[in-house]
Amino acid sequence: MRRAVAAVIGAVTLAPAAAQSAAEAPPGALGCAGCHGAPAAGVIPDIAGQPAQATVASLLAYRTGTGTGSVMERIAKGFSEDEIRAIAEWFAARGTATLHRP
Ligand code: HEC
Repeated sequence: MRRAVAAVIGAVTLAPAAAQSAAEAPPGALGCAGCHGAPAAGVIPDIAGQPAQATVASLLAYRTGTGTGSVMERIAKGFSEDEIRAIAEWFAARGTATLHRP
């Protein structure tokens, strides 16, 4: 699973279209969008436009292991609280439509 997550993050980071918006996105945020904005990802909750507080709360819960996530526990542990906040605010400022890539 670690390998899959790295592949997703790598693919998103290297995509030319993503590189343009990378300037404004906090570190890691585009990697999240690789799963959370994927059109075919029906089982993955969409976090774009979700209040930052809710996203932060979920990620902190995943980090401490009180969340019920699978991949998210591993992902959340890779970010500091400040980074989580920055990512959460970035997603909160986005509607679902902007996140979904063509
Ligand atoms: C490999 C795909 C993947 C990546 C990358 C990923 N997520 Fe997730 N995320 C999931 C899945 C799947 C779930 C559903 C819970 C679970 O199975 O862990 C989830 C759940 C969540 C939830 C809970 C949603 C809710 O409201 O119930 C939040 C918040 C979240 N992710 C934020 C993030 C953030 C922020 C990042 C980037 C740092 C990120 N995710 C990266 C797959 C991913």
